[in-house]
Amino acid sequence: MSAMAKAGLPTSAKFTPIDVVRRGLKISLALAMLCMASAVWPQDDDSGPALSRGGADTCINCHRDEKLPGVEGRLQRLVASPHGERGDPRTPFGQLECESCHGPQGDHPRGGKETIIDFGANDTASPVDEQNAACLGCHENPVGNDWHAGEHAAQDLSCASCHRAHLARDPVLASETQTEVCYQCHQRQRGQVQKPYAHPVRFGRMDCSSCHAPHGSATEGSLRRLTLNETCYECHAEKRGPFAFEHQPVTEDCSLCHAPHGSNHPAMLTRRAPLLCQQCHSQAGHPSLSLTSSGLPNDSPSGFLLGGSCLNCHAQVHGSNHPSGITQMR
Ligand code: HEC
Ligand code: HEC
Ligand code: HEC
Ligand code: HEC
Ligand code: HEC
Ligand code: HEC
Ligand code: HEC
Ligand code: HEC
Ligand code: HEC
Ligand code: HEC
Repeated sequence: MSAMAKAGLPTSAKFTPIDVVRRGLKISLALAMLCMASAVWPQDDDSGPALSRGGADTCINCHRDEKLPGVEGRLQRLVASPHGERGDPRTPFGQLECESCHGPQGDHPRGGKETIIDFGANDTASPVDEQNAACLGCHENPVGNDWHAGEHAAQDLSCASCHRAHLARDPVLASETQTEVCYQCHQRQRGQVQKPYAHPVRFGRMDCSSCHAPHGSATEGSLRRLTLNETCYECHAEKRGPFAFEHQPVTEDCSLCHAPHGSNHPAMLTRRAPLLCQQCHSQAGHPSLSLTSSGLPNDSPSGFLLGGSCLNCHAQVHGSNHPSGITQMR
């Protein structure tokens, strides 16, 4: 059975008075049940553009032609998406069908000026506010709450710059395909996650929204959690502590030492030891400049120090619970 038939989409554009009555009933029922979460357009009175009479059939009647900005093939995929669920009165296809998103038809079929909402797939586009209002009419909660305060809204992005509606599966919702959507505008991050030491984003085992709230958040950098560290602890819980002996920069900000998008240094470090450590430690107990032995136990020169590797001795750099862990060596 085709997706279209499955969703009960008639293939004829004819409508009868009974259809109109049924459609009217359906609309008022939907609005009555869902006035808190639905796109509400002006109805067939003088207050604005009129709805079509035949719903999706009216649109498909013209938009099946390949020469028009057609959705014939893609339409079938729309009805196979969650938006095409006719049995669910919260969805567009449980309500005004195409017009739930594209707005009332008005005089659009006659080429009139009361245009329907254009999401920009074909070079032309309605103002972003208008486009987003159509989506937020149903998605104000919870999406809108984050959206209005976020950086993407401030940059005037449309919902449709990330979301595809005329596909059964929206690519931005799956890890393997999401990153391509983000890279359209974030080329720098594409390069960073390709570096030799990086989160497994390029293998589709993680994606940008593993750490970021794409609709916005109160955190700098639009992270999923209230702080940068909380975001990391979501998966690296063992680094949370509390430790008997903490290392101050670790509790403060993981990105003082790690580049979260990727790095050329093992463990995604921003720099290699000893340079990494020497950003903050110059003369501490023993000189952190690795070429002398002064200050080391017995004043004996150390191969480790000569190698410059602080971590050979200070292995517990994230904090220690060992009774003698104060210098993070165990
Ligand atoms: C009488 C035929 C006809 C009907 C009915 C019709 N359209 Fe259109 N539509 C067109 C034509 C022709 C264009 C191209 C206009 C242009 O290029 O300026 C168009 C353009 C559009 C666009 C903008 C595409 C773009 O790239 O500019 C959208 C969106 C759209 N129609 C949606 C709908 C919806 C939703 C319905 C049903 C409510 C509908 N149309 C009903 C003929 C029709
Ligand atoms: C008439 C109400 C309505 C409108 C208008 C609407 N949506 Fe939805 N949307 C829904 C409902 C209902 C669901 C299914 C939610 C669920 O199952 O929990 C949904 C689901 C989604 C999903 C998740 C899909 C998935 O595969 O899980 C996305 C993304 C989405 N909508 C984006 C949009 C965008 C972008 C727009 C505007 C172009 C839009 N929606 C317009 C009601 C609507
Ligand atoms: C920068 C890209 C981007 C933009 C712009 C965007 N979204 Fe999303 N959206 C996503 C991603 C990524 C997810 C999946 C979130 C996840 O995996 O946690 C998502 C998920 C969703 C979902 C389903 C899951 C949920 O959070 O409820 C809905 C509904 C949704 N978006 C609606 C919208 C609406 C409405 C707009 C415009 C106001 C919008 N989105 C703008 C990227 C975006
Ligand atoms: C969930 C909201 C939603 C529904 C329902 C919906 N569309 Fe769309 N439509 C969009 C979005 C978003 C785009 C942008 C391209 C994409 O996402 O694939 C679009 C693109 C289009 C375009 C190309 C011009 C443009 O606006 O970019 C046409 C024409 C169109 N839709 C017609 C229809 C018709 C006809 C129906 C009903 C059978 C329909 N749409 C139902 C959201 C929707
Ligand atoms: C249509 C272009 C566009 C797309 C697509 C896009 N972004 Fe953005 N994004 C921007 C712009 C513009 C900014 C602000 C300038 C900057 O920081 O680069 C921004 C900023 C950000 C920021 C920084 C936010 C802050 O508060 O500083 C993050 C994080 C982000 N985007 C993540 C994403 C993710 C994740 C995706 C994919 C799901 C995505 N973006 C898709 C345009 C886009
Ligand atoms: C492991 C977690 C993580 C992943 C995965 C991740 N980011 Fe980030 N991202 C961060 C952190 C942490 C910041 C820095 C936030 C701050 O400003 O403090 C950041 C910052 C950003 C910024 C702001 C500019 C900048 O570079 O500081 C953008 C844009 C961004 N990320 C986009 C992306 C995109 C696109 C993806 C997917 C390819 C992605 N991020 C994946 C953690 C992550
Ligand atoms: C969604 C889960 C998730 C989040 C959130 C996350 N990580 Fe990771 N992290 C992983 C996974 C998965 C790996 C790869 C493990 C592997 O490749 O075996 C990893 C690897 C690492 C590694 C490298 C380990 C090595 O042996 O090279 C570092 C360092 C790291 N993460 C730091 C961070 C930091 C800092 C943050 C916060 C900005 C963060 N992670 C957020 C899941 C996550
Ligand atoms: C003072 C610098 C520094 C800070 C701050 C720091 N790390 Fe590390 N991290 C390192 C070093 C150095 C290594 C490599 C350790 C090694 O090679 O034995 C490492 C390794 C890792 C690894 C991979 C090996 C392992 O131990 O699992 C993960 C995951 C990790 N760090 C996560 C984090 C998280 C999460 C934070 C924030 C809570 C953080 N780091 C803060 C220096 C730091
Ligand atoms: C961003 C700055 C910063 C970086 C980078 C850093 N540290 Fe620290 N470290 C500190 C601070 C601050 C303290 C706490 C100092 C104090 O309490 O007097 C500390 C404490 C220590 C201590 C314990 C000293 C004591 O007696 O309490 C050791 C050992 C140490 N760091 C080793 C390292 C090593 C090894 C590295 C490199 C992997 C490193 N640190 C990187 C800032 C840093
Ligand atoms: C050969 C082992 C070894 C190596 C390599 C080493 N350290 Fe140490 N470090 C020690 C010992 C032992 C102590 C404790 C000294 C003491 O108690 O007086 C110490 C103490 C410290 C302290 C705390 C000093 C204080 O004020 O109490 C810091 C900070 C430190 N080391 C940083 C570094 C840095 C940075 C490097 C790399 C450049 C490094 N260490 C390399 C063995 C080492």
